[in-house]
Amino acid sequence: MSQSDILFDYKHIWHPYSSIINPLPCYSVISAKGVYLKLQNGRNIIDGMSSWWSAIHGYNHPILNKSLKKQIKKISHVMFGGITHPSAILLCRKLIKLTPEKLDCVFLSDSGSVSIEVAIKMLMQYWKSLGQNRTKILTIRNSYHGDTFAAMSISDPENSIHKIYKKFLPKNLFANAPTSNFNQEWNANDIISFQTIIEKNQLHIAGVILEPIVQGVGGMKFYHSIFLKKVEELCKYYSIPLVFDEIATGFGRTGKFFAFQHANVIPDILCLGKAMTGGTITLAATLTSRDIAQTISRSNIGCLMHGPTYMGNPLACSVAYANIKILETNEWKKQVINIEKELLSRLFPLIEHPRVNDVRVLGAIGVVECKQHINLELMQKFFVKHGVWIRPFKQLIYIVPPYIISTKNLKKLINVIQQSLNENILFF
Ligand SMILES: Cc1ncc(COP(=O)(O)O)c(C=O)c1O
Repeated sequence: MSQSDILFDYKHIWHPYSSIINPLPCYSVISAKGVYLKLQNGRNIIDGMSSWWSAIHGYNHPILNKSLKKQIKKISHVMFGGITHPSAILLCRKLIKLTPEKLDCVFLSDSGSVSIEVAIKMLMQYWKSLGQNRTKILTIRNSYHGDTFAAMSISDPENSIHKIYKKFLPKNLFANAPTSNFNQEWNANDIISFQTIIEKNQLHIAGVILEPIVQGVGGMKFYHSIFLKKVEELCKYYSIPLVFDEIATGFGRTGKFFAFQHANVIPDILCLGKAMTGGTITLAATLTSRDIAQTISRSNIGCLMHGPTYMGNPLACSVAYANIKILETNEWKKQVINIEKELLSRLFPLIEHPRVNDVRVLGAIGVVECKQHINLELMQKFFVKHGVWIRPFKQLIYIVPPYIISTKNLKKLINVIQQSLNENILFF
């Protein structure tokens, strides 16, 4: 990439959550292999982010690449309206097999946010079919479900990047987030706010949507599994469908294949994305119970009103299938346990650092919550200079490395985080 390419990018291309006038610098990556991102200058840096939770087996994985090459020779894309193909069928069979028995019908879409939009449409249409006009979604504070409008409307209205769109968003219901942390003592008061809202609004609530156990963008918090159990009981009692957003947590990240398995709770609708294709191509899925799917389909509309152009893209489906086949070897379990052990023994002690408020570890997720907000530009420069790729936000430095990371490279990630805490200039 020439200097003029970099300037072109700087001047003309939007990056996530960035300004076109004064964007933060972008680092040019020319290739990637395993856990390494190769920069323009030839340096390899260790990836601590799995490209936002997705590249769980590392980059340039031979099995994933092979599946893409094989599929590309047959067909890269074909419309899904009125047409089907073997890679979508293979993948959907797998998804149904992997998920609880109740989840029996699959809607494929382009991204995590869209899978949430689809889940919300399902809920609205479900109640319409039952002759009720229910339009409210109940969720909890600190939630994050994506950047499209309906997804933003169920992301925390105060503590989220979506505050600025508040006036355009449908008003949904937000219960207090649980204060009891994962694997710590359960505080029975944690369910009161949720219970009060569900009782009061039971006839208006179309569904409950939650990120199970891990609240990601809303603060990287891990909450108590009993909260999910209580939510499930209340949803059952009031016959309100329960939707889990496993877009970030699905496919092993928390130490269980799905985070809801920590609580032994089964949702009526499940959204998947991110790691589903092992970080190669965008693809998401919304799975639902047959009862919900049939109720929607029995309405006078007769169908679910969604159908993206690239729905069921064969390349994405075939690579997702290959990714799940790798997961089925169960190697991920050992890998995630090893990462968790290392995080507990080396990252957790950073809790003693005067700049640190809290350190949280769950599966292959490590979070250092600092007392001050982080200067993203300077912190990223520091990380890259020291050979790692970590993208903090607000006061949070977190890592979600590829499962294949070696202990040596994980130590390096943690050491660099530790060093960064000693640099005043990196904090506001
Ligand atoms: C829990 C959760 N839901 C939904 C999304 C949105 O997914 P996507 O970025 O693929 O639209 C994200 C993305 O970070 C997420 O973490």
